[in-house]
Amino acid sequence: MKNIAIGTSDLQASDVSLGCMRIAGMDAPAVDELVAAAWDSGITIFDHADIYGGGKCEEVFAASVRRLGLDRSRMILQSKCGIRQGFFDFSKEHILRSVDGILSRLRTDYLDILLLHRPDALVEPEEVAEAFVQLQDAGKVRAFGVSNHNPGQIELLQASLPMKLHVNQLQFSVAHTGMVDAGLNVNMHNENGINRDGGVLDYCRLKGITVQPWSPFQHGFFAGAFIGDPDFAELNRALDEVAAAYGVSATTIAIAWILRHPARMQPVVGTTKPQRVRDSARASDIAITREEWYAIYRAAGNVLP
Ligand SMILES: NC(=O)c1ccc[n+]([C@@H]2O[C@H](COP(=O)([O-])OP(=O)(O)OC[C@H]3O[C@@H](n4cnc5c(N)ncnc54)[C@H](OP(=O)(O)O)[C@@H]3O)[C@@H](O)[C@H]2O)c1
Repeated sequence: MKNIAIGTSDLQASDVSLGCMRIAGMDAPAVDELVAAAWDSGITIFDHADIYGGGKCEEVFAASVRRLGLDRSRMILQSKCGIRQGFFDFSKEHILRSVDGILSRLRTDYLDILLLHRPDALVEPEEVAEAFVQLQDAGKVRAFGVSNHNPGQIELLQASLPMKLHVNQLQFSVAHTGMVDAGLNVNMHNENGINRDGGVLDYCRLKGITVQPWSPFQHGFFAGAFIGDPDFAELNRALDEVAAAYGVSATTIAIAWILRHPARMQPVVGTTKPQRVRDSARASDIAITREEWYAIYRAAGNVLP
């Protein structure tokens, strides 16, 4: 398992992350098996949010870490705040209150990385700065980032922040390729040519921001996994063909496809199955070829100009 730097910070973590959004309803042995599978595969970064399972995901994860006796100091714990019931809230008061809740549910004194979950139209960057400075000075958060933000929104925040934003978590998978489509279809009158994110992938590369693809096995907005879905027959054929060439599963190749991109992205896998976690981690050691990368991209229904 490879480690990468988180943005330009001094934090290092595995290049595959375990997302803990779906673990709230699992019983303790199943959570232990999942977390142990990740840890034993070399995964050191765990992604949370205060809203996952209404806070339950952070609690069951922390209980599992305690039962398994995992070394907190070797672990990168990341969580997010800013989404509330029916609105977004980047106010200073809400950010500070959220982090206290996260720390107590995760049973830890500090969070390695805090992300602002989804852009708040009413954001006041100076307030965010005050909250972040307070959290950093109190030793409650080591590094900061955002999620689902475009370049302009990051610039707006960054202009008021004394610290750098190191992470941007964004949806990306072989069946959700918006971040590369527009760049491949510059100035063309087709659907893929529409720039929906302000060139966020190139922006993050330029700024040394780690992009963390969420839902790496999903298509649509939580519409389901594309692996094994007959609606994605051609994509599955391509994944299986490349998987056979490397002697691994299609799950591994779906993650290897993301890792092959030179932006050095850090996919956040949300499976609750230990074997799929192990398969995902295996992708870290596989470098598919340029031809294979494009063949999979085309098999997902994308036409190159
Ligand atoms: N920043 C954001 O706005 C945002 C949004 C969403 C998620 N996230 C983060 O990203 C993480 C991943 O998101 P996600 O869970 O939606 O992503 P995902 O890993 O793409 O999807 C996981 C889901 O797909 C299923 N799945 C995976 N591989 C499969 C296969 N081969 N066959 C059938 N089903 C398969 C899993 O079922 P099994 O459990 O049965 O394997 C699970 O239900 C979350 O845990 C969270 O940390 C962030």
